[in-house]
Amino acid sequence: MNLLVSAGPTREFLDPVRFLTNRSTGKMGYAVAEQAARRGHSVVLVSGPVSLPPPEGVRIRHVVSALDMLAALQDELAVCDALVMTAAVADWRPANAATSKLKKRGNGATAPDSAFQIAPDGQSAMLRLVPNPDILASLRPAKGSRLFVGFAAETDDVLQEAAGKLIRKGLDLIVANDVTRPGAGFGTDTNIVTFVEQDAPPRFLPLLPKAEVADRIVTWLEERLVRLVAPDA
Ligand code: PMT
Repeated sequence: MNLLVSAGPTREFLDPVRFLTNRSTGKMGYAVAEQAARRGHSVVLVSGPVSLPPPEGVRIRHVVSALDMLAALQDELAVCDALVMTAAVADWRPANAATSKLKKRGNGATAPDSAFQIAPDGQSAMLRLVPNPDILASLRPAKGSRLFVGFAAETDDVLQEAAGKLIRKGLDLIVANDVTRPGAGFGTDTNIVTFVEQDAPPRFLPLLPKAEVADRIVTWLEERLVRLVAPDA
């Protein structure tokens, strides 16, 4: 199969030296790319800024912001059979990025149309954000028969939230992780996930190395693709 994977966080710049981001390290997405390549699949990995070495046998595209990630995925989508979105994409970005470093003191330091505004008394500041596109939703019109797998990093009502995202984003599978559980979610070498699909009961997996979770996702994709090609298999 031709597999497209996204991994890591995005960075949303306020000025040349500051950005908004999140705790994703890319481990989960790199594991998916690596396991798929090991099993002989052709893999393109679109990666936000992380400090992991590129997985062997994988073509990698480095991106920074959510808009960059969307553009790279749009470029690569046509030739893929499946997309796995492990990336933790920022939902919001500063309304604009200043071209010079924002100064700590004084209203005059920021232009009137700047996303960052310091109050006249210098005791508070406001940052105006605008929504980033939902990447999965933006790619949906071009989905065709491709399989789309999303991830859901949740802290409350994990299965309910994940099931909502499965429907809203038009996914074939969502991998829910309760990021409050020790050993699960951001930065860990392990994860605790549940596979949530529309027409099947949730499949709860125990605490597993991310490489093993990745392997189960690749197996799921392989089985589904076989069924799409040969429905009676
Ligand atoms: O990178 P690690 O440190 O290994 O951590 C792994 C992880 C916790 C980041 C990963 O397992 C995970 O849960 N990734 C999804 C995190 C997330 O942002 O989930 P979400 O519920 O906000 O988004 C749901 C889905 O929509 C995700 O597939 C996401 O890639 C996608 N999305 C989100 C926002 C956006 N603007 N566009 C999107 O396509």
